[in-house]
Amino acid sequence: VAASGLNLSNIQGDILVDDPAAFKSQLGSEILPLITPIIQILPDAPDPPATIVNIAFSQKGLNALGIQDNLNDADFTNGQLSNAAFLGDQTSNWEPAFASNNVHGVFLIESDTIDSVNAKLSQIQTISNGSISEVYRIQGQARPGDEQGHEHFGFLDGVSNPSLRGFVVPALPGQTIVDPGIILLGEEGDTVLERPDWAKDGSFLAFRQLQQRVPEFNKFLVDNALSEPGLSASENAQLLGARMMGRWKSGAPIDLTPLKDDPVLGADHNRNNVFNFTHPDDPNFDFKTNQSYCPFSAHIRKTNPRADIATSFKQHIIRGGIPYGPEVTDAENASNSSSTDPSLERGLAFVAYQSNIEQGFAFLQHSWANNNSFHIILLSDAPNQQFIANYNSVGEDPIIGVAPNDGPRSPAGLDPNNQTRTITINEDFVVSRGGEYFFSPSISAIQNTLSV
Ligand code: HEM
Repeated sequence: VAASGLNLSNIQGDILVDDPAAFKSQLGSEILPLITPIIQILPDAPDPPATIVNIAFSQKGLNALGIQDNLNDADFTNGQLSNAAFLGDQTSNWEPAFASNNVHGVFLIESDTIDSVNAKLSQIQTISNGSISEVYRIQGQARPGDEQGHEHFGFLDGVSNPSLRGFVVPALPGQTIVDPGIILLGEEGDTVLERPDWAKDGSFLAFRQLQQRVPEFNKFLVDNALSEPGLSASENAQLLGARMMGRWKSGAPIDLTPLKDDPVLGADHNRNNVFNFTHPDDPNFDFKTNQSYCPFSAHIRKTNPRADIATSFKQHIIRGGIPYGPEVTDAENASNSSSTDPSLERGLAFVAYQSNIEQGFAFLQHSWANNNSFHIILLSDAPNQQFIANYNSVGEDPIIGVAPNDGPRSPAGLDPNNQTRTITINEDFVVSRGGEYFFSPSISAIQNTLSV
């Protein structure tokens, strides 16, 4: 979970509740004081504590604690494994812990050093004293040196997240402001009206372990480098990567600087989100058809279409992932392929918060990233929310998209000089290793409902 300045190390421990009565009593007395309120763990929250502890429960976990109330989110209730096919996952790639569909909850512990994380973990283990058992652990860690804050493909992450209206900190320029109920249950704008009272101010946490095949990604960029005049071969490879992502490695949006990176812009939080793909000042540019600034299929445009949608839409998530796994080795670089050694697996421990999983993470993955033509989608709860740009046959998201039957993906628009050309991608650079849907409760819900 990313909180400002504090996402350097993190452990996610998936747990099974073995002794519900004992665990509930520990939860209410000794674990509760360690838990950081959800409001404080959303990105950009002011003054996060030195070590953040979050606890969240799957539907099975709530059942184990004797909670009968229906949170009214079908994806949460059914669990992520039953959503796997919809998301485009191959469950043969899933971690056994997730594929066995028997995770009750997760602790997320985050601090600036791994020692502090481990200290907090042992404290929790001592308190729980056998009432819960750990079924799986993933350790996230910021990448070293200048790569800090960048995901394993090399791009600055954690730049664009919606800001909650009326909450916490003022929005940055260009930041989308959404009703708090888009993220927090029971707040204004929650699309589901029927929630148990105790669920208010909690949020659904979609966790995904997303493996990244970095040498393969880099080789693809070199092999398919664009041919923009005036750029070297290596710059043309970087250009392709930037157009696939929608941002340069520095974080600078290609919508603002289409042909070369601008690290000063990338690092400037007051400017690096000020774009919406439309370019009203450019008389020769029609954003509904022209992709010379940013392709329709670019990862950030697929997952947040900004002004491509007619009215303000509700498909927003707040992301808080962190990289896991070691840096690429020389041997992997030399062979252009990821090692099969499990200890060298790397990727993104992806975390997304929302009040409605079907409209949040699952929608972004299924209906946008995996969909090659989504101009015709009408959102059932808001018929006026329609794509106004021409998204017909734009192809899948080149970073996270999955084509039918996991076949080749064919994003268009990546070549600025031949925008109808599709570039075939025969392999996945991101492989889902599975995950689970959790509910991250408010402090008072832990105190008054889950622990009694
Ligand atoms: C933005 C990388 C998975 C949704 C970004 C950015 C990067 C990135 C570099 C731009 C920086 C930023 O805006 O914070 C990745 C990688 C992934 C991954 C490497 C997999 C390993 C996902 C998934 C989803 C997602 C699974 C949702 C289904 C988003 C959203 C944004 C974003 C909503 C912000 C777009 C915007 O507001 O401009 N991602 N991402 N990402 N990503 Fe991902």
